[in-house]
Amino acid sequence: MTLQPLIFYASLFILSALVLKAIKHSRRLPPSPWALPIVGHLHLLGPSLHHSFHKLSTRYGPLMSIRIGSVLGVVTSSPDVTKELLKTNDVTFAARNSSAAIECLTYNSSFAFAPNGPYWQFMKKLTTVELLGSRTLLQFLPIRTNELHELIRFLFEKSKSGGSDFLTAGTDTSSMTVEWALAELINHPMVLQKAQQEIDQVVGRNRLVQESDVPHLPYIQVIIKESFRIHPPIPLLNRRALEDCKIGNYIIPKGTLLFVNLWSMGRDPETWKNPLEFQPERFLSESNSEIDVRGLHYRLLPFGTGRRGCPGLSLAMQELPTTLAAMIQCFNFKVTSPDGVVDMSERPGLSSPRAQDLVCVPVARCAPSIVN
Ligand code: HEM
Repeated sequence: MTLQPLIFYASLFILSALVLKAIKHSRRLPPSPWALPIVGHLHLLGPSLHHSFHKLSTRYGPLMSIRIGSVLGVVTSSPDVTKELLKTNDVTFAARNSSAAIECLTYNSSFAFAPNGPYWQFMKKLTTVELLGSRTLLQFLPIRTNELHELIRFLFEKSKSGGSDFLTAGTDTSSMTVEWALAELINHPMVLQKAQQEIDQVVGRNRLVQESDVPHLPYIQVIIKESFRIHPPIPLLNRRALEDCKIGNYIIPKGTLLFVNLWSMGRDPETWKNPLEFQPERFLSESNSEIDVRGLHYRLLPFGTGRRGCPGLSLAMQELPTTLAAMIQCFNFKVTSPDGVVDMSERPGLSSPRAQDLVCVPVARCAPSIVN
């Protein structure tokens, strides 16, 4: 007997075993669109991943798998699935995906992308307890106050000169939040008016809002929450599976990238009534009043959750409401566009800044002596 038929049957056997294994494996993955050879689903993804994922998830459901070239990913936009992934399986998803570009840009010492090892543990403790802990935040309060006064003073100068060159589209999370919130307020004058009334009642117009006022400004707080819901500055949480993980009937294999689509979650009509409307009052209703942004309510996770959650949360939640409140305490904002409406489109990318600079003229509603 010649060797040729033997080699043929052996190859056929091995090939079928491999195909069967691949089919069995893929059957246990969450549903996914048809993939092309080599590119996988890359042809379905646009410049804003969260928009593309959102569109696909309306068809493939709250947990779907995706192939970015040869890399396997899963995408979720459901609070319940997110809870199972990031709370029940917190340790499994406590890693992120680093890349040569990130290593190069951060001189291989990124904290946010560090593997879940001793370096990350050390940095997390250092930032949470020391750099961004409550004691340090209190220590740096005079510096933050000074910066806020500088900003307001600058705006008074602009308002005197009628200048409109104001607020460029920043890419850092805090400036993005203030810009989106302010843009929403300009487009919703009734909400702005209600917020200004609250500040006038609680603080008055003779001194500038300060961080200690924020607990007494519940309407400002819900404006920030509502802004985070519609415009999460980081629209996709990004993690990587350190182990195989079973979610319902699905297996998510070790090494899979996980994307939690916060942007999509904030716009889900199953979770939110009139999700595309900017309505801060929704967070005052009985069913939503408990929701905060600290990572325990899986419907609203602008700072992420669990062990890879954002250590800058307390700092951000002290300065953001204060900055926004101070700006609207001292000014009304006239938009320069002919229709008087602010364009709300996003710039494509991994964060979601405004596409257009927010250009408007500050019109003073307090005396400049409010800042020292
Ligand atoms: C509006 C303000 C901010 C938002 C919306 C925000 C959002 C986020 C989100 C979504 C994550 C990923 C969390 C996860 O995977 O679960 C993150 C991580 C992180 N953030 Fe923030 N952030 C903000 C401000 C800050 C500030 C002010 C700092 C520092 C001064 C900071 C430092 C970090 C660091 C170091 C990480 C990585 C943590 C880790 O991997 O363990 N963030 N942030």
